[in-house]
Amino acid sequence: MSDDGGVRVTIRAPRAGDEAAYSEAVRRSAEHIGQWNPVEPDGLPDLLERQGAGLRTFLIIDQETGGIVGKVNVANIVMGRFCNASLGYDSYLPFAGTGRMTEGVRLVVDRCFAPQTAGGLGLHRLEINVQPENQRSIGLVKRLGFRHEGFTPRMLFLGGAWRDHERFALTAEEWPGAGA
Ligand SMILES: CC(C)(COP(=O)(O)OP(=O)(O)OC[C@H]1O[C@@H](n2cnc3c(N)ncnc32)[C@H](O)[C@@H]1OP(=O)(O)O)[C@@H](O)C(=O)NCCC(=O)NCCS
Repeated sequence: MSDDGGVRVTIRAPRAGDEAAYSEAVRRSAEHIGQWNPVEPDGLPDLLERQGAGLRTFLIIDQETGGIVGKVNVANIVMGRFCNASLGYDSYLPFAGTGRMTEGVRLVVDRCFAPQTAGGLGLHRLEINVQPENQRSIGLVKRLGFRHEGFTPRMLFLGGAWRDHERFALTAEEWPGAGA
């Protein structure tokens, strides 16, 4: 939150008109995000095509400037008895490290747990998997009140190798959590 307690960002689905701004934001931020989560700067059209029952993407938008603060993928959505998804995200310069990303991910979590009848995704559990050395992401996860569940060896193929991850999760009963 800003100093006056207001929220500085909104969230919305990405659209074709975001392509240029998205490419610039990712290119500008390549050094900051590349180490953890290689992102294709021209990958928005492909991401738009993949939107569906298993994947919903949200852009975090700075209210004052309209700039793209970051992106959150709500991925691996499984409904039925599971109602579960994994969150993946990255933030972009010049907004990275200003607290806006945390505000935006909080809004995405709100949307994920809201019932479908209220425009939400109707999920019950969210998981975030983070490489143990990724302290900025672990900081974000903890600020939001996610619970550490365990350690998953060789979980994701990133940067040319299978990487270990720490697993954090939250169920709807725990939200809003300690960080809210
Ligand atoms: C992980 C990642 C998304 C975190 O994004 P971020 O932009 O640092 O997020 P925020 O700005 O909300 O983080 C808050 C930071 O801003 C600082 N900050 C500055 N002004 C602030 C304010 N007014 N309010 C709150 N925090 C503020 C906080 O102190 C905090 O710093 P810290 O991380 O050193 O504790 C980002 O580092 C990233 O994109 N990393 C590469 C991709 C990646 O790792 N993805 C996740 C894979 S699991």
